[in-house]
Amino acid sequence: MRTIDWVDGAIELVDQTLLPGECRVVRIGTVDGLIDAIRRLAVRGAPALGVAGALGVALAVATEPDPADAAARLRSARPTAVNLAWGVDQALKCLDGGFGAVLGRALEIRDEDIAACRAMGERGADLVRELTGRDQVRIMTVCNTGGLAAVERGTALGVAQTLHERGQLAEVLALETRPLLQGARLTAWELGRMGAPHRLVVDSAGPFLLARGSADIVLIGADRIAANGDTANKIGSYALALGAHRAGVPFIVVAPESTVDLATPTGSRIEIEDRDPAEVLSVRDVRLAPEGTGVLNPAFDVTPHDLITAIVTERRVIRPGSGEALVAGTI
Ligand code: MRU
Repeated sequence: MRTIDWVDGAIELVDQTLLPGECRVVRIGTVDGLIDAIRRLAVRGAPALGVAGALGVALAVATEPDPADAAARLRSARPTAVNLAWGVDQALKCLDGGFGAVLGRALEIRDEDIAACRAMGERGADLVRELTGRDQVRIMTVCNTGGLAAVERGTALGVAQTLHERGQLAEVLALETRPLLQGARLTAWELGRMGAPHRLVVDSAGPFLLARGSADIVLIGADRIAANGDTANKIGSYALALGAHRAGVPFIVVAPESTVDLATPTGSRIEIEDRDPAEVLSVRDVRLAPEGTGVLNPAFDVTPHDLITAIVTERRVIRPGSGEALVAGTI
């Protein structure tokens, strides 16, 4: 199954807001429809957003009077995952070649994502074995970084999938990931489909379970990696990194090179998306907090590079926690 693709002149994607109850593919034929799907998280996860951005430019060329203006609106539909802007920019570079050239580049980006996720799975699984020294590995993760966050296979969860396929996965502890429950709704669904052993954990239990020795390694994805290795990812990642550091558990970021943003020198410069208070005040329309309650709802946090044991991409393994830089001179 592909999470997102180009089919007969339009984008088709799995509407992730309906999972795990229903796995429905929706067709999107306008840029505004795509922006809406991105904002309401029908399509989400950094690599999938990169592909959506590129395919969206093809839609813009096919349907909009001013494709560049439509692409600019699409580019800023969500601010934190750099892949969205990256995908839009990659496709825009082909604008002079017309629709065929733009779509061709977008389909290339889709195919590159599939290959990158496979490569990260293999490289990440090797690294996990090296760092843990275990034949059967217990992983902790947050949010959803599986195939639903990419095209076919994921990043951090792709590593878990590779370990499972090799017969080396003991268990995944998946944090439920308040407020939108990507861990409970999406990661648990994907692990179930893989037949991979897993248990769901409330977010605040993560650091304590690491202190108790319940996981051998933490694997997360990334929405933007600054030039110095500071990494923005789903809210809760930073707390896990602190817990992992204290417990002496390796903390690994798995992300494609397209998530590395060399134009952003450090994590303090990464824009963090603030989402609708309603996401915190209610769960699926069931009101939790009293009327009038104020809310802060940052969708992401930033983990400083010194807390990151390694960053795994499709091309390399970098160890920021040991002083190794993504780019010479940035640490
Ligand atoms: O708000 P979301 O669901 O788009 O957040 C997604 C994450 O934080 C993922 O961990 C990240 O995009 C990496 S996905 C391989």
